[in-house]
Amino acid sequence: MTVLVFLDPAYPQGRVADATAPTLMATDQGATRGDGIFDSMLAVNGKVRKLEAHLSRLVSSANIMELDIPGPDVWKAAITTALAEFRGTGTDGAGSAGAAAAAEQPHQDEAVVKLLATRGPEETKLPTCWIQVSAPSALGAQQRASGLKVMFLNRGYSSTVAQDAPWLLMGAKTLSYAVNMAALRHAHEHGNDDVIFTSSDGMVLEGPTSSVLMAHYEKGDDGTVTKRLITPQLDTGILPGTTQGALFRAAKEAGWELGYGPLVPEDLLDADAVWLISSIRLLAPVNELDGQAVGTAGVREQLTEELSALLAGIE
Ligand SMILES: Cc1ncc(COP(=O)(O)O)c(C=O)c1O
Repeated sequence: MTVLVFLDPAYPQGRVADATAPTLMATDQGATRGDGIFDSMLAVNGKVRKLEAHLSRLVSSANIMELDIPGPDVWKAAITTALAEFRGTGTDGAGSAGAAAAAEQPHQDEAVVKLLATRGPEETKLPTCWIQVSAPSALGAQQRASGLKVMFLNRGYSSTVAQDAPWLLMGAKTLSYAVNMAALRHAHEHGNDDVIFTSSDGMVLEGPTSSVLMAHYEKGDDGTVTKRLITPQLDTGILPGTTQGALFRAAKEAGWELGYGPLVPEDLLDADAVWLISSIRLLAPVNELDGQAVGTAGVREQLTEELSALLAGIE
């Protein structure tokens, strides 16, 4: 069950559209060229988590693409409308979507809220912007619980590509995710659940829909525990993860040390724990990398529990 709300100057709160009917021009450059941006957020009980971080990444993606999109307040009004429709508290007839979603997922009130903006129809070139709200798939919870088999795949770009070739739009969350989806299909065909991209010069980058995290755990002779959380550097052309950013802030407050790459695949294989992390799936432990077991038994589970609790507290 999906709710759509378009950003439309004639409707300050957003225009609710029927998600089962055609709503986009066939000449929209989002469809004809993949020329647009998006961001995916998780809403719990009608409240979007890390809303400001997602809106600011949307603005940053738009700036990288030189796309002129409406300001944050216009998006916020449409998000409010879309979530009300989804949860069945809206004024429009589409409110039934929420009731149906609640029936599908009676145990929790979670929603995936997607913000989308394209360069618009070829004729007008006015951006098309909308919100899509749907229920999260059950796969995320399953992967959080059971962990992931992951393979490394070469992304084919060097780790300096963001500086060398800005037209490749590295660091923007563009609609051109066909390559990321193809990488996932390749992983599935080879018996894996997910992918960690490496650069052509061998650096660890990110997953097709997630950031990479690893941890080291040390207990000194005097019983002192040191926990260090490490993620690849952002200047390798990866997407700045809002979940990684928020978790780093929470972990620092909880006494963790923080580090930023450069990381190579061996670093992940030597780590006490490795995770893929994102807004919707949250923290999913990596069990295997290219067929090799990852992490230190016991420590891995303890750190996963600790970081998941920190993540649950992030608004
Ligand atoms: C390529 C990529 N990297 C990282 C992430 C994680 O970002 P966030 O934590 O903001 O969801 C995503 C999310 O979809 C992604 O697509």
